[in-house]
Amino acid sequence: MAPVPVSPISVGHIDDVQELRKTIPSRIPQRFVRDGIERPRLFMTNPTPCKNIPVIDLSNLQKGSKDEFRAELLQLSASCEDWGFFQVINHGVNLSLVESLEKVAMEFFMLPLEEKQKYPMLPGTVQGYGQAFVFSEDQKLDWCNMFALGLEPHFIRNPNLWPTKPATFSETLEAYSREIRKLCKNLLKYIAIGLSLDENVFEDMFGAAVQAVRMNYYPACPRPDLVLGLSPHSDGSALTVLQQGKGSSVGLQIFKDNTWVPVQPIPNALVINIGDTIEVLTNGRYKSVEHRAVTHREKDRLSIVTFYAPSYDLEVGPMPELVDENEPCKYRRYNHGEYSKNYVTNKLRGKKALEFAKINTTN
Ligand code: OGA
Ligand code: NI
Repeated sequence: MAPVPVSPISVGHIDDVQELRKTIPSRIPQRFVRDGIERPRLFMTNPTPCKNIPVIDLSNLQKGSKDEFRAELLQLSASCEDWGFFQVINHGVNLSLVESLEKVAMEFFMLPLEEKQKYPMLPGTVQGYGQAFVFSEDQKLDWCNMFALGLEPHFIRNPNLWPTKPATFSETLEAYSREIRKLCKNLLKYIAIGLSLDENVFEDMFGAAVQAVRMNYYPACPRPDLVLGLSPHSDGSALTVLQQGKGSSVGLQIFKDNTWVPVQPIPNALVINIGDTIEVLTNGRYKSVEHRAVTHREKDRLSIVTFYAPSYDLEVGPMPELVDENEPCKYRRYNHGEYSKNYVTNKLRGKKALEFAKINTTN
């Protein structure tokens, strides 16, 4: 008898969005059409200048005068508290590497479907090419093709999913990821200093930090008002680094003061956001903010997203320095591996993943 899978997941047929574009360019299959309240009300998202996410100049933190350092550190802390998002400029990541990765990522997505399907993201898994976070046949689908790979520590890698085309894909991704790792360590150092903690507190605590990359390709969509590029969610990481393709449409939106605020790309900047893990560690002082991606009628969009998180072994809970009588403990202690497992075995659903960690208080 054929072996029965332990937990069969029936997700039905998942259309590849790029192929859909080629075959039926003007009809949106029902599985992508959102119910009324979930639809992006694109006319509502006219950006007002005061609603742009903050910008952090890393060079002021690394080599600024005392005053520049202090001012930038305040700005960083305020961004993490009020927005959970910021764009970082002068971040030190080699720009030609950023460009090269964008190029090979785009080349990968432009390969014939049969080539990309050599690296399938199987139902219920989060690495490879396809759509992540799909768990049932009636679940709405995102207008997006994804390609995701685990990078660090090495045991999370699945070498069978690393593509041989384009030929320089793997080496470019490796070099890029080393630089992004340095950036994450740096940012965590300044985040710690801004919280009046020891600068190495996160690095020491995180151990063999987990790093993964997800490349999201959003083809243009004839009805951007009906679909979502990526469902609303917060990230399970400690920090997320997002690079938006040059010339891409505006697509990332964050949920702030009850409205969806579009993130206007700044050339050569990287978008950083606080993930659930930092929200828990800081007892909610720094926010892991809900965000989503929308599509564009004429333009496609590429984003390359790095998730940086602690070792799966880590017991995560609010740091004692951030808990007192005014700020009572809001989250329980849990194992980060279990948190991650809970995150990736559920569909994206706003900030619901954090309920795993929340202590229910009545006040
Ligand atoms: C993500 C994400 C947004 C984007 O991949 O977690 O939030 O703009 N992506 O692609
Ligand atoms: Ni995200």
